[in-house]
Amino acid sequence: MYILGIETSADDTCAAVLKDDSIQSNIISSQIDLHKEWGGIVPNLAKRAHQERIYPVVAQALKRAFHLKKSSDPHTLIKQGLKKIDVIGVTQGPGLSPALGAGIDAAKDLSETYSIPLVAVNHIEGHLLSPFLKNSKGNPKTDIKFPALVLTASGGHTKTVLLKKIGDYQSIAHTLDDASGEALDKAAKLIGLSYPGGPIIERLAKDGNENFLDLPRPLFHSKSLDYSFSGLKTAFYYQVKDWNEEKISKNLPHLAATFQNAVFDTLLKQFKKALKTHSPKSILATGGVMANKDLRSRLRALAKKHSLPIFFPPKQELNTDNAAMIAIVAFHKAKKKEFINPKDLDRSPRLSL
Ligand code: KG4
Ligand code: ZN
Repeated sequence: MYILGIETSADDTCAAVLKDDSIQSNIISSQIDLHKEWGGIVPNLAKRAHQERIYPVVAQALKRAFHLKKSSDPHTLIKQGLKKIDVIGVTQGPGLSPALGAGIDAAKDLSETYSIPLVAVNHIEGHLLSPFLKNSKGNPKTDIKFPALVLTASGGHTKTVLLKKIGDYQSIAHTLDDASGEALDKAAKLIGLSYPGGPIIERLAKDGNENFLDLPRPLFHSKSLDYSFSGLKTAFYYQVKDWNEEKISKNLPHLAATFQNAVFDTLLKQFKKALKTHSPKSILATGGVMANKDLRSRLRALAKKHSLPIFFPPKQELNTDNAAMIAIVAFHKAKKKEFINPKDLDRSPRLSL
């Protein structure tokens, strides 16, 4: 089965083509430069950029997947490429409402114009299934045993989910306030760093002292498996609020290392409690924050300690938002004939898992 995936829930305009679970093409057009100067995503700017880019991005994904001849008109490529597509999957939510609308409108248009069945996809389910993706040669040959306990951490959510089998999920814990990526982005902004803050903090933290400030560790001593990051952000704010620019810039690596360490300690500690409670057969770790090498190595060590196999998305670019993860969900839903009439599909900004 050939699947076209479309994802526009935040600031990446994405399209991908899968053959079953194997990636044939994965195009990501990032809008970071557009939103950077505002310190975060501006929903209506995102919407307009998605609308301008979505058809060229879909055309590019189809061209790469099917080795189509160059054409200056995206619609010629789309017409040729879609002849081979069996199903279209699009992100329905959660995400920014205007941004979601741009992808959904394009997916509905293509589904109706070319009579291709449509599947509505939950963005979080996309992150959950990203470790199951394979390259065009069908590698890596992963054998993920169920139940798997998933830690998924991004700019929009932070959750622990028990994956009993594909399509059967039990939410175990979630953040009570900010998402972990959101906390990193907000702390970065507070000390004058650019957007998104997560990768910048990672770079700076390498040379910093992670015990430079004394930051709280919320929920450590409670039974709760949930996450919380807003107290951390507030404590950080009160410690640096009276610092002048020079003092901040001189200590950037230490500030980055301390904040990052506090966020990761929280993720690790709460996830470790969930591991003990739910005794899974494997661990999955997904979402934009997993692009961080330090976090991945700390999770690998945790998995080793519990003698459990751990799986991440097989490529760095599959941690952050992409359409391949949307297409793999659509693949599994299409096998169960879970299609939606384009007329009935509406965006769902607060969709839960
Ligand atoms: O999954 P994603 O692309 O979008 C959402 O669904 O939110 O995640 C984006 C988040 C941002 O908060 C960003 O700062 C964070 O992931 N992020 C990172 C890294 N790369 C992206 N956080 C820590 N280290 C990184 N290398
Ligand atoms: Zn995401």
